[in-house]
Amino acid sequence: MQYKSQGLTIWLTGLSGAGKTTLGKAIVQKLQNQNQKVSLLDGDSLRQTLCKGLGFSSSDREENIRRIGYLADSLTREGKIAIVCVISPYRNQREKLKQQIIPFMEVYVNAPLAVCEQRDVKGLYKKVLSGEIINFTGIDDPYEYPLNPDVECKTDCETIDECVNKILTKARNLGFINLSC
Ligand code: ADX
Repeated sequence: MQYKSQGLTIWLTGLSGAGKTTLGKAIVQKLQNQNQKVSLLDGDSLRQTLCKGLGFSSSDREENIRRIGYLADSLTREGKIAIVCVISPYRNQREKLKQQIIPFMEVYVNAPLAVCEQRDVKGLYKKVLSGEIINFTGIDDPYEYPLNPDVECKTDCETIDECVNKILTKARNLGFINLSC
């Protein structure tokens, strides 16, 4: 089976540590194996480059997402698949992106805060507890979860493969990618 595609943005939103980057990388791998033109736009990496200097105030987060949305839109218009992994905590802004980028899929990468805290892959939740970091999403800064995502992945009880298959099957069912054998 082969995935064939026109442009598409798959936008993964969720708390820090929910598994966005892990899923994003797995999606990229699977699509690249099918010779698809796919780019990973990851919040942590982009904050070192395109979005360097931006912090975590609401206006900086909005600017961060605006820039990343612009890039995803450009890639999608060029016929590429953009896989975006950013917290993107504001519902309104995600709604705007849905209007701007076509086609667009919103994926809610959902893991309970307690699970993210326990995973603490980057050691950031520990720093929040010690007061070293403030305005942390889900703790003392808002996360507005999607009300009607195209796909919801519960990473505390679904495997990476299950999540990836769910996302790509939905993309196919929505007509955003084609399966050709
Ligand atoms: S967003 O809110 O603007 O969408 P983005 O996805 O780019 O955030 O970056 C989030 C990453 O920055 C987190 O996964 C974490 O590694 C790091 N980070 C550092 N400080 C914070 C904070 N105060 N809130 C959330 N994430 C933070």
